[in-house]
Amino acid sequence: MKITVNGESVDAEPGQTVAAVLLTNGHSSWRTTRVEGRPRGVLCGIGACYDCLVVVNGTPDIRACQRTVRQDDAITTQQGAVLPSSTVVQRAPATANRTADVVVVGAGPAGMAAALAAGDAGASVVLIDSAPAVGGQFNRQVAVRDERPERFQHGWKRFVAKRDRLVAHQRITHLAEASVWAFERGNRVWVQRGPADGVGREVFAVDAKAVVLATGAYDRVLPFPGWDLPGVYSAGAAQALAKGQRVAVGKRVLVAGTGPFLLPVAESLVGVGAKVVALLEANSVKTVRQGWATDPLVAKGKLSEALRYGVMLARHRIPLKHGWTVIAAHGEDHVEAVTIARLDAGWKPISGSERQVEVDAVCLGFGFTAQLELAVSARCGLTTGPDGGPAVTVDADQQTTTPGVFAAGELTGIGGADLAAAEGRVAGTAAAHHALAAATPDASAPLCAPLPHETASDVRTSCTKSADAARTKVKEGRRFAAALAKAYPVRDGWQSWSGPDTVVCRCEEVTRGDIEGAVAERGVADGRGLKLTSRAGLGLCQGRVCSRTVAAISSNGQNDVPEPSMKRPIAVPVRLRDLAEAQEEL
Ligand SMILES: Cc1cc2nc3c(=O)[nH]c(=O)nc-3n(C[C@H](O)[C@H](O)[C@H](O)COP(=O)(O)OP(=O)(O)OC[C@H]3O[C@@H](n4cnc5c(N)ncnc54)[C@H](O)[C@@H]3O)c2cc1C
Ligand code: FES
Repeated sequence: MKITVNGESVDAEPGQTVAAVLLTNGHSSWRTTRVEGRPRGVLCGIGACYDCLVVVNGTPDIRACQRTVRQDDAITTQQGAVLPSSTVVQRAPATANRTADVVVVGAGPAGMAAALAAGDAGASVVLIDSAPAVGGQFNRQVAVRDERPERFQHGWKRFVAKRDRLVAHQRITHLAEASVWAFERGNRVWVQRGPADGVGREVFAVDAKAVVLATGAYDRVLPFPGWDLPGVYSAGAAQALAKGQRVAVGKRVLVAGTGPFLLPVAESLVGVGAKVVALLEANSVKTVRQGWATDPLVAKGKLSEALRYGVMLARHRIPLKHGWTVIAAHGEDHVEAVTIARLDAGWKPISGSERQVEVDAVCLGFGFTAQLELAVSARCGLTTGPDGGPAVTVDADQQTTTPGVFAAGELTGIGGADLAAAEGRVAGTAAAHHALAAATPDASAPLCAPLPHETASDVRTSCTKSADAARTKVKEGRRFAAALAKAYPVRDGWQSWSGPDTVVCRCEEVTRGDIEGAVAERGVADGRGLKLTSRAGLGLCQGRVCSRTVAAISSNGQNDVPEPSMKRPIAVPVRLRDLAEAQEEL
């Protein structure tokens, strides 16, 4: 298909995102910031950071990494803050509200498993995800033509079987390209459905007897001078672009951060033709070994995977350097080089070890942060996950502290796709039970109701067995998560990589000096006060990228878990006009 970029005709493939088209056509930035006019392109690649805003057919503030191209789309770069063109008037169609026994938000490994378990247990299910296809971050489906989609996907056949069962399931309705922007008491979720960030999307509510939140996580990226230059990506962005769009973020790429996730990222990058110049793991070999040694059984189970990645690194001559990281990025409008340095045990750079490396892209990942907005809106209690980050508190049935609201996957603590799927199965079964029991006055509705062609006893037995097996997997998965956090901790020394002029809040362009000034000079102590005085966290990304960093800087490294008050009741930005029109229609 043909689209235009700043008036020039370019070829695009159905399924490509605007960001993928722009990157393959040589653009790494397509927006300037509101305050200082800094160039911006992709950072997170999954719709969390709002760095990649672009104008599509006259409508500004469209996330290029989320919007798939349509024939004749006119893409233009966005300079500063742009007001919508008054000629773009497209009223949102009135759409009837829906009901379901169980609504599942998020169709990644956790949400898919929850939807299938709830459907199998006899509940009607609405599964909602903002992406065009199910799979989430782990089972990202390739959006462009590819004869061998399994090349970048571990467990692809297993995923396809699950996906096909989900599509054919008579009790499950999947709503794609549908964002849940608010949770209302009484288990009502508000949805906008249609092309990402477009005007005129359907607005409707789904009322359910139980809700499963499975909204996943996004990469944690730590600030250093130059980290807001185009060409600095999160590791997940590089992975999403390679896996979903077959796009390499650069020709000479450096991967840095901490955790085993960096290994599949390096593998995907070479798979799409990039030269990975090095993989820098910030933790020392000793820390990693000691961490895994806390649970040797778990470590043994991961040995073959580690060996496979070792062979991959050797084959592609990718040096793996433990105890090193990137402490600065250099370039005018794009990364041209980075400074790397050896770190001491607390992650402070060792003086004299600094070296410059020429690259055109750098991919960073220091673990993940759970996507908590909807859980906070639903007043779910929060706890600290195994990695020290914020997570949703759940009981043995994955029920949160809000009755009828369940949570599964990265939201309850970072632990990978297998744990997410196991938690999803438990949550889906329990949510169905909650919903069906609520509908029956004597609360004796069967946990696993039969489908029309099945006998009640067969289904009940197999369903209960499956939930029990999932609980065992959850226990195993949590052991893995605990060992993972010990093997790949994030040490406080990262705070020494940035200076007073380093931007911390990318949306509002608030520097580290601004935040420290608000704390020292104005005596601001709480997260909300800090947000209102410094503006850090007030921008479109709602503090997703910076709130842990701001919490750490303002508490002098004592705490990197932002207060819930740092979060907003609206889970994703919505246009006021859409809300006003929805009010009239509903
Ligand atoms: C960018 C990225 C890439 C990753 N790639 C890999 C990988 O290749 N290998 C690996 O082992 N691990 C990977 N991970 C780690 C990954 O998070 C887990 O392994 C796994 O996907 C977690 O499953 P989940 O179901 O909890 O969440 P996810 O898979 O993240 O699924 C959450 C889903 O919720 C949807 N969602 C969130 N909020 C809303 C909302 N308000 N409305 C509607 N939908 C919403 C999202 O679109 C997403 O599809 C990646 C993580 C990230 C952030
Ligand atoms: S790169 Fe598109 S929102 Fe982050």
